[in-house]
Amino acid sequence: MSSTYFDWRRVLDSPRVYSSVMAALGADSGMQRFVREVLRVQPGQRILDLGCGPGRLYPHLPPMEYYGLDANAAYLARARALYPKARFEQQDISTGCPNFDLGEFDLVVAVGLVHHLPDAAAKRALAFCHERLRIGGRLITLDCVIDEGQNLLSRLLVSGDRGRFVRRGEEYLDLARAYFPGANLTIRHDLLRVPYSHAIVECEKR
Ligand SMILES: C[S@@+](CC[C@H](N)C(=O)[O-])C[C@H]1O[C@@H](n2cnc3c(N)ncnc32)[C@H](O)[C@@H]1O
Repeated sequence: MSSTYFDWRRVLDSPRVYSSVMAALGADSGMQRFVREVLRVQPGQRILDLGCGPGRLYPHLPPMEYYGLDANAAYLARARALYPKARFEQQDISTGCPNFDLGEFDLVVAVGLVHHLPDAAAKRALAFCHERLRIGGRLITLDCVIDEGQNLLSRLLVSGDRGRFVRRGEEYLDLARAYFPGANLTIRHDLLRVPYSHAIVECEKR
């Protein structure tokens, strides 16, 4: 018997719907705080935004050399239309991007990417981040997280995410530490207007 089950999360495949839902959840002001408190970007830096989606991070950054990579052509088309000065490229990051050649970066950011990748693909992506950073450069990842400190609604929302590999904070940290031994983890419950929990992993290339 064929199934008529509809996964409502597919509506988020539309870049306009995705951006509107994120704005309604308060994700834009959360992104602004994330940029100010965690990324602490300096004007003129080179930044690589992995899993950039429709480019939500870009308008929160100071003038800089920005490159966004994503696998989703519709998200990238929206990003290019909104931000013609930025550079966006279609790449499947889970391959480790063997043909990517745009030099070294001061900062690599992955907002909402790692929980879409199984361990082997996440490791290839993290190896790519390490290879692309200059010495002293930083990688920051932010993903939804399963955490003892979160309330029931947050746990339900996080569990319903489109990403099939939502992890515990320590699991995100272990993945990163294979490439960045000094990586550290922060759990935040205050980046959206609704109860939701995020793991932020901060890494430096030494
Ligand atoms: C939750 S969205 C986050 C988008 C954006 N960073 C933001 O904050 O709005 C996850 C993004 O990761 C991208 N993505 C997932 N797996 C990917 C892969 N293997 N290679 C490249 N992009 C991927 C998706 O297309 C999507 O744009």
